[in-house]
Amino acid sequence: MKVLVTGGLGYIGSHTVVELLNEGYEVVVVDNLSNSSIDVYDKIKIITGKDFPFYEEDVCIEKKLDEIFSKEKPDAVIHFAAYKAVGESVEKPIMYYENNLVSTMKLCKVMKKHNCNVFVFSSSATVYGDPEVLPIKESARLSTTNPYGSTKLMNEQILKDVCISNKDFSAMILRYFNPIGAHKSGLIGENPNGIPNNLMPYIVRVATRELEILSIFGDDYDTPDGTGVRDYIHVVDLAKGHIKALEKAFQEAGVKYYNLGTGTGYSVLEMVKSFEKVNNVKVPYKIVGRRAGDIAACYADPTKAYNELGWKAEFGLEDMMRDSYNFVLKLNDEKRSNE
Ligand code: UFG
Repeated sequence: MKVLVTGGLGYIGSHTVVELLNEGYEVVVVDNLSNSSIDVYDKIKIITGKDFPFYEEDVCIEKKLDEIFSKEKPDAVIHFAAYKAVGESVEKPIMYYENNLVSTMKLCKVMKKHNCNVFVFSSSATVYGDPEVLPIKESARLSTTNPYGSTKLMNEQILKDVCISNKDFSAMILRYFNPIGAHKSGLIGENPNGIPNNLMPYIVRVATRELEILSIFGDDYDTPDGTGVRDYIHVVDLAKGHIKALEKAFQEAGVKYYNLGTGTGYSVLEMVKSFEKVNNVKVPYKIVGRRAGDIAACYADPTKAYNELGWKAEFGLEDMMRDSYNFVLKLNDEKRSNE
């Protein structure tokens, strides 16, 4: 089976490519390197000992996609390539709608032409908005609070409609909670450009003293210690969820929705304390005001993915803390030795 992975050199994409290759799938990666690095291509080859084709192309360009499909003839697509910064999406909504929606539509169009009927989509827990009930089930009410989230929800709708129009089409909508951690080799992981928006990369950069102090956005939420609670999931667990979803998609047509989370929520303060303990390093922090658009708590009910896909998260919080730090320490060592 050959799987075309868009955004396959990005954070979640690269870990999924590793798992696919380890499971014996053929892989083709399309990535425009807008938020990833070509080094990741070599790192994946080192980790897996396997080679695979890579196309530096934008998934929104139909002609290029068509050429790649003609040459590679993939059996399935896993679509990661997208813009993903919530704040940026509020500043540049059209850029987000254009990139994140056109890419999916072009893929669906070209897949139809080439009779490729399996689509695995990177959605997000952001489609649950501010959840009314915790833990969150797939059947929860959907809403969004920013253009990034809206692109995820609109893409879900597009894929549902494609499934209605084509009874052979299978769309797996995977709603990710908060991925952190890195491959145990320390060769691939999360390496955002500039100052990180997300908690874990920020904590790591404070620990390495690249950033001075962590700002904790609010300690007056209705949570046990007042700081925000999220369902952090190891990126390798998340990657494995894609393999399970792919297996299911080859067996059954139609649209299906799965939460990929652990089912456990941790607060920002618990995350900081755990990171400090596991890695034996200090993470200075200060409490500041709430970040606009943040919610108090968000964690999954992952039962459906377990019952229907046979998937559940295996890694614990300590693994996530250790692997996140290890990746950045190794990356910084590499940078220093290249200087
Ligand atoms: N936080 C801080 N300080 C920081 C960064 C984050 O206190 O410097 C807090 C946030 O307030 C929140 C928690 O840490 O309580 C997690 O924040 P992240 O930015 O890491 O993650 P979010 O849950 O806000 O957002 C993530 C993804 C989005 C996605 C959303 C919902 O980044 O893409 O989950 O699924 F939309």
